[in-house]
Amino acid sequence: MDERDLEKYIPIETFTGETTEVNSTRNKLYVETYGCQMNFADTEIVNGIMGKNGYDITENIDDSAIILINTCSIREMAEARVLQRLTEIKKYKKKNPKLVVGIIGCMAERMKRDLITKKGVVDLVLGPDEYRKLPSLIDNLIDTGEKGIAVKLSRVETYDDIMPIRKEGISAWLSVMRGCDKFCSFCVVPYTRGRERSRPLEGVINEIKILEQEGFKDITLLGQNVNSYRSGEFDFSDLLAACAKAVPGVRIRFTTSHPQDLSMKLIETIAAYDNICKYIHLPVQSGSDRVLELMKRSYTIEHYMKIMNNIRKLIPEVSLSTDIISGFCTETEEDHKMTLDIMREVKYDGAYMFKYSPREKTKAWQYEDDVDEETKTRRLMEIVELQRNISEDKNSALTGNIFEIVIEGISKKSDKMLFGRTDGNKTVIIPVNGAKAGDKLKVRITRGNSATLFGEAVTVN
Ligand code: 5AD
Ligand code: SF4
Repeated sequence: MDERDLEKYIPIETFTGETTEVNSTRNKLYVETYGCQMNFADTEIVNGIMGKNGYDITENIDDSAIILINTCSIREMAEARVLQRLTEIKKYKKKNPKLVVGIIGCMAERMKRDLITKKGVVDLVLGPDEYRKLPSLIDNLIDTGEKGIAVKLSRVETYDDIMPIRKEGISAWLSVMRGCDKFCSFCVVPYTRGRERSRPLEGVINEIKILEQEGFKDITLLGQNVNSYRSGEFDFSDLLAACAKAVPGVRIRFTTSHPQDLSMKLIETIAAYDNICKYIHLPVQSGSDRVLELMKRSYTIEHYMKIMNNIRKLIPEVSLSTDIISGFCTETEEDHKMTLDIMREVKYDGAYMFKYSPREKTKAWQYEDDVDEETKTRRLMEIVELQRNISEDKNSALTGNIFEIVIEGISKKSDKMLFGRTDGNKTVIIPVNGAKAGDKLKVRITRGNSATLFGEAVTVN
């Protein structure tokens, strides 16, 4: 199974932003982030806004005067984790009654005032389009004791002028559009993040050039639905090409795409530029046309396969990954087998696999959630197991191949090993050899398992 777990919480590490005044504990901000990459990118925007307003960003929760939790609503489990976390955070508030606790992001947008009324510990609730109000709501809370809530969704907010404060490193996220207009029947995102809107092309290009100067080597253009990007006459392919030209020494990736908008022009653009990674994440969700229609995904498996075949024709070395939901309403054993079939046919390099979780407000909320928990789990296990075998077969077959990797750092499991990433987004572990984070190396693969490749350096550039 792929290692990314959308529901896993990963506390944000050090962000040392520009600060104007650091003379009281009031200025220490700690942000904890749950959910998708968009949320991680949003936390960096929040850090940017707060840094500009004189707050110091800390990774030590015990040190903080303000705790913000950037939340995810995509599945019930993601919300349950945050609610559980709030119970733990109560103890910090007990120790320091002046501590400010805020919920931001998708749960804030979905649950609104309920978070304040039902969870005594919460002082601030801000939806994804309201982050500019954070400093004033905090000031007001401190001055008057008034709890703050701001949950309006915007049709224009893109935070284009905010420079995010990122953790130093090799990889960076760069948000290019926000929101989603697709309204897949299972998905709460259009309700929590609102309508699609894009940043101007120049804003993205300016930021990507800054990121290059700061030493980032691998940049992922982010949006709920990046292929719907539009800035004047420019579409997402134009943006991607402009980025590739602006920073030719930097690898560029993007996520996430919807099959409806994945055009031939985009495939040709990916093929045309060396620094656009040959990696495409294209969620299929189900292998059954009947289920896809109920999901309101607006494509058939035949159409999806046509796109996949075009991608493979133009980019033979491409790596492909997908999202799959098991146990959607009315899913039969037959439908489930069709999902396994499409996985065998495409042979994805990786997949993010989930059990269907009903979400209020969505179209599917009105359907009966009629696949029992046990069946959902069993089907998910079959999907995970199949993907593990496919990934393992594909990765072991790479033995002997040579790839260029960008070194990201020391392996988490052993300080005698380095890890890096291929253009196709695969992690490669190699023995320490004097190379440092950011270096490009040619490596020969010596073996591979379902999650990782192992190799040795061939040359040092
Ligand atoms: N239940 C389970 N998985 C979901 N996803 C979105 N909404 C739900 C839900 N209600 C999955 C989809 C999507 C990914 C980001 O999360 O596979 O592509
Ligand atoms: Fe959700 Fe569908 Fe939009 Fe993706 S495209 S964010 S699954 S509504």
